[in-house]
Amino acid sequence: MLPNSGERDAAGHPAGDTDRDWWRQAVVYQIYPRSFADANGDGVGDIAGIRSRLGYLARLGVDAIWISPWYPSPMKDAGYDVSDYHDIDPVFGDLGEAEALVREAHAHGLRVIIDLVPNHTSDQHPWFQAALRAGPGSPERDRYIFRDGRGADGQERPNNWRSVFGGPAWTRVPGKDGQPEQWYLHLFAPEQPDLDWNDAAVRADFEATIRFWFDRGVDGFRIDVAHGLAKADGLPDIDDAAVLVAGDDHPHWDRDEAQDVFRSWRAIADSYTPPRVFVAEAWVNEPARLARYVRPDVLHTAFNFDYLLTPWHPVPLRQTIAETLQAHATVGAPPTWVLSNHDVPREVSRFGRVQRDRLVRRLPEVDSQPADLATGLRRSRAAALLMLALPGSAYIYQGQELGLPEVEDLPFGVKQDPVVRQSGGERHGRDGCRVPMPWAGSVPPYGFSPPGAVRPPWLPQPESWACVTVAAQEDRAGSVLELFRTALALRRDRLLGVDEFSWWEVPEGALAFGRGSEFACVVNLLAAPIALPAPWRVMVASGALTPNGYLPPDTAVWLGRG
Ligand code: NOJ
Repeated sequence: MLPNSGERDAAGHPAGDTDRDWWRQAVVYQIYPRSFADANGDGVGDIAGIRSRLGYLARLGVDAIWISPWYPSPMKDAGYDVSDYHDIDPVFGDLGEAEALVREAHAHGLRVIIDLVPNHTSDQHPWFQAALRAGPGSPERDRYIFRDGRGADGQERPNNWRSVFGGPAWTRVPGKDGQPEQWYLHLFAPEQPDLDWNDAAVRADFEATIRFWFDRGVDGFRIDVAHGLAKADGLPDIDDAAVLVAGDDHPHWDRDEAQDVFRSWRAIADSYTPPRVFVAEAWVNEPARLARYVRPDVLHTAFNFDYLLTPWHPVPLRQTIAETLQAHATVGAPPTWVLSNHDVPREVSRFGRVQRDRLVRRLPEVDSQPADLATGLRRSRAAALLMLALPGSAYIYQGQELGLPEVEDLPFGVKQDPVVRQSGGERHGRDGCRVPMPWAGSVPPYGFSPPGAVRPPWLPQPESWACVTVAAQEDRAGSVLELFRTALALRRDRLLGVDEFSWWEVPEGALAFGRGSEFACVVNLLAAPIALPAPWRVMVASGALTPNGYLPPDTAVWLGRG
């Protein structure tokens, strides 16, 4: 933890900050800035809103915040289409406010991680505009992945790659004469052209961007699409081009060539006092592949998406945890644990459905069957205790601490995710997990925007959210917010510096492990209550125990001695 007093540098880091390893066990809270808090009443969250809620986050008990992109952007993919990496989009504020936020967060004892988007820029980025003007064969085009088309007139796409959002991954541009000319690659939206990481200018520019923000005191970067930077020479066709994760030797996912880029970034992070950190967004096939990103000279941490993809079922849960711990131990990196983010349906709604008995590589969109939200919430509460008891670092996505469900009935017309448009309306998209936070009050905007706001929230909030606002949960015994606060405080008190982990033998269908000799976590995934070990004391439970002190189904407890 950052001390709350004492001497600090200009960005608010304590002078001589010695806690170089804070990231190894940090709990990081993800802020999706559009949807967190709107201070100026335009219906979109902003930096001033975040600044006004730092006290809430400090009280929640997290160690750091990760802020999704806040850079100038045409917002074709909610800011993941960046047109200037060295500034702030006016909808969020300005650079001075960003600097103030970093200082104030530090004063609250919170580190700040921001998003780096290196796989692609916006098509409005000056580089892409220059590439369009400069024409084939120019150094400007070399920063991106422009190719001639196949076929006699170049009218066929250069290869069969598909966009993650749907449709082909190539768009053809007109030449100077207005006739169709080269194609450019975009693994996401057409407005997000992929950069070519073989290009020296691209590498140098991102190094400068990383320093720009480290110089302003940010503590680290989350690296967007880290598994996508390197593409195979010759850009060969692939059999199944529309998958999110890598197969063996996939031409554009999880290629080893990108590791050198990360090594150069690590050297920059290590040259700062205190050292800065990275967390990779890397969708890969197995924990052993993920471990490559977090070797000692590469990145610090990477999101454990296997855990996010693991159903609420004891067999795959135990397997994912065991494989994660084993793979990270081989490289000496801390594992991370994550249940939700701005790209996936919220776990209350996921866990409120029938659970598979094995991990699936892609989460189904959740609306195929109605959710049992009471069951989903019970399981999510237990899942939170399980996650926060595991060794390493954990991520909380805004609203998770309130038990928010996915909003599944957003009308088509209000949805803004490019996935919806690019899939021709076939996919439901990610808007349902991005609905603005409910802070207080009994009607929308639930304190998200100030009184008298000129516009409603950019996505409508459900009528049913009055009882899940922060204010409604503040003093309600047994609320999800209370559970998170209690767990985070206990975690700080009991688990900081405890590396040990050992499985306990419990009835099949339950999970239990000790963390040192003083702390244990037991989770019941069976249909019947189970007994708890006698000499231990329940420190916190995700739900009420049975009258005779048994642990009911879909419930977790933390046990302590003494
Ligand atoms: C991953 C981000 O989390 C997601 O929101 C975005 O659409 C893609 N990368 C493309 O940048």
